[in-house]
Amino acid sequence: MKKMSLVLLVMVIVAASGVAYAQDHAYVGASKCKMCHKVQFASWEQTTHAKALDVAKASTDPAYDAGKCTACHATNNDEAMAGVQCEACHGPGADYKKMSIMKDKEKSAANGLVLPTQEHCDGCHKDDGHSKVVVLATELNNNAAIHEFKNPPGQ
Ligand code: HEC
Ligand code: HEC
Ligand code: HEC
Ligand code: HEC
Repeated sequence: MKKMSLVLLVMVIVAASGVAYAQDHAYVGASKCKMCHKVQFASWEQTTHAKALDVAKASTDPAYDAGKCTACHATNNDEAMAGVQCEACHGPGADYKKMSIMKDKEKSAANGLVLPTQEHCDGCHKDDGHSKVVVLATELNNNAAIHEFKNPPGQ
């Protein structure tokens, strides 16, 4: 058990650095993205990402401990932001979620929008005995895993 705690502690430290975004933008929560991205939201809601905090809370082995689990089973390492939400992959949205910014890719990026790369997945998906590595390229068409990538807004 002691060894397990140590492993998890190391995981948390590595994970925290792996998925950390610039803290100069605030998080708003997935419900704020829903109004304009209904397709992605409806699909994401069905994924294990959306339900990841509930699963961790129900776990007995390893036992749930917010300090050890929210780095990967919640967003922004914050228990109040349950699950791997939009902003865990796309960056905190307070400054890019306005229509005038969102419709401009350059402005969106300048205001914190991220299109996640393999590195972002690696922040939480590790070959560490708890989680397995996922390959982003093969997941891009996996609606059940993340969301519907084939339906960008307006198309
Ligand atoms: C007011 C409406 C609106 C809100 C709210 C909104 N978006 Fe968007 N989003 C858009 C529009 C419009 C586009 C551009 C669509 C296009 O290029 O066809 C876009 C594009 C995107 C893209 C694709 C960018 C690219 O370069 O391909 C991502 C990712 C995204 N939004 C994520 C989010 C996230 C995450 C949130 C919540 C934090 C959010 N959006 C909130 C309207 C919105
Ligand atoms: C470094 C990131 C990370 C940390 C920290 C972490 N997890 Fe996970 N966890 C994952 C990933 C990624 C998966 C998906 C497993 C896979 O790769 O198939 C997962 C899967 C799980 C599952 C299995 C879910 C299923 O559907 O079978 C449980 C239960 C779980 N974690 C509980 C916990 C608990 C409890 C903690 C804290 C003590 C914790 N995890 C800490 C990343 C993490
Ligand atoms: C596990 C990571 C992850 C989560 C969680 C996630 N996305 Fe994405 N999203 C991606 C990836 C990866 C892409 C494709 C990026 C690329 O093409 O380079 C993407 C693409 C998009 C796009 C571009 C259009 C499309 O569908 O291909 C939009 C819009 C978007 N996401 C919105 C959202 C919204 C809204 C949420 C939450 C409801 C969300 N995403 C949650 C990883 C994620
Ligand atoms: C903030 C941490 C985090 C990030 C970032 C993240 N994931 Fe996850 N992912 C998880 C957790 C935790 C689970 C397990 C959820 C559960 O089973 O309850 C999971 C589950 C999955 C699953 C389902 C695995 C299964 O066996 O059910 C896939 C596929 C997946 N993630 C792909 C990705 C991809 C691709 C990316 C990068 C675009 C990504 N994830 C980014 C934490 C993360």
